[in-house]
Amino acid sequence: MSIQWVRAAAAASLLAVVLAGCSGKNAENHKDGMDHTKMNTDSAPSSATAAHADAAAKSNTEATPVIRQTEFTLTAQPGNLEVESGKTLPVWTFNNAVPGPEIRVQQGDRVKITLQNELPEPVSIHWHGLPVPIAMDGIPGVTQNAVPPGQAFTYEFTANTAGTYWYHSHQDSVNQIDRGLYGSFIVEPKGDRADRDYVVMLDEWMSQGGAADAGTGSMDHSQMAADPHSSAVKNDPHSAHGTPGAAAAAGHDMSMYDLLTINGKSGASVQSLAVKQGDNVRLRIINAGYKSHVLHLHGHEWRVTATDGQPVHNPQPLKDTLLAIAPGERYDVEFQANNPGQWYLEAHGTEPGVKGLKIQLAYEGASGHHSDAPNDSAANLPVFNLTQYGQPGKSAFTLEQPYDLVYTMDLGTEEKNGTAVYTINGKAYPETDAVKVKKGDNVMVKLVNRSKSDDHPMHLHGHFFQVLSKNGKPLEGSPIVKDTLNLKPGETYVVAFQADNSGDWMFHCHDLHHASAGMVTHLVYSDYKSTFVADPKAGNKPE
Ligand code: C2O
Ligand code: CU
Repeated sequence: MSIQWVRAAAAASLLAVVLAGCSGKNAENHKDGMDHTKMNTDSAPSSATAAHADAAAKSNTEATPVIRQTEFTLTAQPGNLEVESGKTLPVWTFNNAVPGPEIRVQQGDRVKITLQNELPEPVSIHWHGLPVPIAMDGIPGVTQNAVPPGQAFTYEFTANTAGTYWYHSHQDSVNQIDRGLYGSFIVEPKGDRADRDYVVMLDEWMSQGGAADAGTGSMDHSQMAADPHSSAVKNDPHSAHGTPGAAAAAGHDMSMYDLLTINGKSGASVQSLAVKQGDNVRLRIINAGYKSHVLHLHGHEWRVTATDGQPVHNPQPLKDTLLAIAPGERYDVEFQANNPGQWYLEAHGTEPGVKGLKIQLAYEGASGHHSDAPNDSAANLPVFNLTQYGQPGKSAFTLEQPYDLVYTMDLGTEEKNGTAVYTINGKAYPETDAVKVKKGDNVMVKLVNRSKSDDHPMHLHGHFFQVLSKNGKPLEGSPIVKDTLNLKPGETYVVAFQADNSGDWMFHCHDLHHASAGMVTHLVYSDYKSTFVADPKAGNKPE
């Protein structure tokens, strides 16, 4: 079989089998000088090998551009991301950038974005947090068919709610977000007043290459990297969940994510943020990864002005406090640049790769001033507490008011047939029971994390919910409105929302390893009838 034939077939999933079967012979793919260990480990799911064959032919990604238009195309395409000097990963991109373009629109804008797919697998785009009409939500098999290679789909909606959002593929998302298919989506309010407004997007990678499937469970990746003949094992989808039983007992091992990035770069390669004395600075921090991080801003007092894009009422200044941010969450942080020098915003902790998760604030014309040193292992700093922050203000819901529907979601980790599954009320998707509402219903949901060691950052599509209580204690400060809420083991939260956006919406854990292993349900409007009919041949993978 000739190499030409192999390349021509890049779009076919058959390719994975072909390459796996002749991994020692596909010399052409190695000519670009990439090292073999990286290539070898990039082959866990069948799509990975195909993606890699394509990525090897591509040049490096470009810096994330800012798009300030309301009509444009996002092209999903392969590329190579240099995360730090000497370390390049094969990635999937929007417009050859990771993160994809920073999209900035004005509140009220009508936007029309065409997704063009130049990847070997079908893709989609979900606008995380932004309430769009159901047909634009980007869920393969639920709201649309996944967009096949070579084809396009146009998303059109009005950006009604200001705030910090993000977009990502929702097709096989545990793998596709892992590969880099995400970007920020900022809806600017009219008359905004920040002098500097930066996106700080967090993610984690496997330094050996590869995407989600390669790392689930307790497989030893260093060994996989070293063994050039192990590709057959890695291409076996059934090996994806690792040692039977181990995962459920030990909780979910995420240690394979040892390379942490901010805006697609790690450590010294992260582009610093320029400020000048007197500026009002806003950082829009977005966690696109599957792990929580705690961040420390040095040298400044700061305020949390929004959570998941929704404003906090009268936020007070904080100092030497850690900000925890879970998968899918966003925090807007604002501060006055009043301390010239060079300062870090950095992750604290001992997780693998933590030292790479830092970004510098660099005052213009401030040489000779403070030059900061990292102190990422400093412990004992208080952690920002969402439930006692800001001041009470206008609130849509209370704990006492009547609700049309009260629903409990018990979130659990179980072992079924030797693998870990993540359950809602004891069931794994697609067996989970939908939350059934009627338009106009006021809905109260009690979320309980019964897992021993897993966080569950729960994300509801198409709606915001207000957080009313944590562990039985009502919130004391500002009303807190979110679309993604992290529950640590043992925690209980009560949230409420109005069913005001008809459709069939996903409600799932944004540790997408958990979602792909069961922790997904739907919020279904009984008075809504979808006109979409899924094509069984589209290869839709909604979770
Ligand atoms: Cu960020 Cu269902 O997704
Ligand atoms: Cu979870």
